[in-house]
Amino acid sequence: MPQPVRIAPSILSADFAKLGEEVRAIDKAGADWIHIDVMDGHFVPNITIGPAVVKALRPHTEKPFDVHLMISPIDQYLDAFAEAGADTITVHPEAGPHLHRTLQHITSLGKRAGVVLNPATSEDVLDYVIDDVDLVLVMSVNPGFGGQSFIDSQLRKIEAIRAKIDATGKPIDLEVDGGIDASTAPRAIAAGADALVAGTATFRGGPSAYADNIRTLRGE
Ligand code: DX5
Ligand code: ZN
Repeated sequence: MPQPVRIAPSILSADFAKLGEEVRAIDKAGADWIHIDVMDGHFVPNITIGPAVVKALRPHTEKPFDVHLMISPIDQYLDAFAEAGADTITVHPEAGPHLHRTLQHITSLGKRAGVVLNPATSEDVLDYVIDDVDLVLVMSVNPGFGGQSFIDSQLRKIEAIRAKIDATGKPIDLEVDGGIDASTAPRAIAAGADALVAGTATFRGGPSAYADNIRTLRGE
C-alpha cells in the first residue's frame, strides 16, 4: 500500500546564489525530503551540483537528502556523496555496468538505495533488484532540466511498479520526478506514487509562496 505522500522539492529550481537559505526555507515550508539533482554534462546535457555542495548544504536542514545522480560512470562517486550527507542515493541503470553491485554498494555505505527509470526505460529492469532497493524513482520527463512537461505514458509505468512493490510487502517508496504540478500530482498519486519531486512548482512565487505551493502538491 502507498504511504502518505511525501514532497521532495528539487533545489534545481532554487536560487543557486542562496542555496543554504533556500534549503532552510523549503524545510520550514513543509518539505519532507530535499531532492538534489546531480548532473555531469555527459550522462545528461547539463551540469549542476557535486559532493562539495551537498556537504555545504548538510548543516542547513535535518530533512533527508534525496540525491538523484545523473552521472556516468557512477560507482567511483558513491562514497563521496555518502560522506557528503546523502540519505538516499538514486541511480540510473544506464549509468554503470552492474546495477546490482551499485545498489549493494550504496546499502553497504549505510544509505538508502534507489533506482531511477528514464521515460523509455521499462519497469522490467526492477525484476531482479527489487529486494535490494528502498526507493524507485520514475522520471516523468527526460532528465537534465527543470520546467519540462509531464509525459503521460509514465502513469502506466507507475501503476505497474506499484503492483510490483505491493507484491514485495515492503515499504519501498515510489517517487515521481518531472513536470509535477497541481494538475499532474493527483494523477501520479492515483497511479500509485507516494513521493513527488517538484522543482518549478515548489519554487514559483519565491519564499513566501513555498508553504502554499507544497500544500497544493499534497492535495490540501
Ligand atoms: C530533471 C530533474 C528533476 C527536475 C524537476 O532532470 O531530475 O528533479 O528538477 O523539475 P520540475 O519539477 O521543474 O519538472
Ligand atoms: Zn531529479
